Amino acid sequence: MKEVLVFPAVEKLSVYLKELLISKTGNVPDGKYLSVALSGGSTPKMVFKHISSDNHCDINWKKIRLFWVDERCVPPEDEESNFNMTRNNLLVNINIPDENIFRIYGENDPEDEAVRYNRILEKNVDPVNAWPKFDIVLLGLGEDGHTASVFPGNNSLFHSTKYSEAVTHPQSGQRRISLTGGVINNAEMVIFVVTGSGKAEIVKRVLEDDTAADLPASQVNPAKGDLIWLLDDRAAGLLNNY
Ligand code: 6PG
Repeated sequence: MKEVLVFPAVEKLSVYLKELLISKTGNVPDGKYLSVALSGGSTPKMVFKHISSDNHCDINWKKIRLFWVDERCVPPEDEESNFNMTRNNLLVNINIPDENIFRIYGENDPEDEAVRYNRILEKNVDPVNAWPKFDIVLLGLGEDGHTASVFPGNNSLFHSTKYSEAVTHPQSGQRRISLTGGVINNAEMVIFVVTGSGKAEIVKRVLEDDTAADLPASQVNPAKGDLIWLLDDRAAGLLNNY
């Protein structure tokens, strides 16, 4: 199923995501977990703040295992680190056991870390069709159509036979570890979270322009899962049908 939901503000979008997580954790049997892979960026940062700020009806974080969609190859205290952003905006506000957190070690050698993280995924995320099957993969969208750290033109990464790979940002040269398309498209649910008028053009291209089919974000289409786009009305501003 593919769904595009538009909200008047990121706060409302975050409430929807929070209610979804509450609902999904409520269905997790004893001894099992909801496996969730998080992205970095300013949009996930806003959403993390909102879903963890008001704790009166909280998500049962003890039933969630957190992984990362991608990570910059920097130490975990670095301001560039997706883990550091998540710690400062989500983890500090919630009660989640340390053993439920599977960060990517940005401080490691990138190639070695991709090998280590692939083993972590193999061991801790139940496989379906020989690929780790996340319950939820949360994605951001770059203005160039990248998602995770799969940048335009790097389709070989999207179609890699590995679960994650060490990659290089095409502009900055920054090393990163990124999940590949095989893992992303094997998920039970993929959720794009996109806000702001600056993303309106790329959102329209990915959702309504067939000529954008080769962009990484356009290739996200879980084979046996749900694809949900959570947009604020500014990011949805150029769409024809919303
Ligand atoms: C990263 C992210 C990346 C991000 C998009 C959107 O590590 O930067 O995984 O894919 O989600 O670039 O970022 P913004 O929300 O900051 O535009």
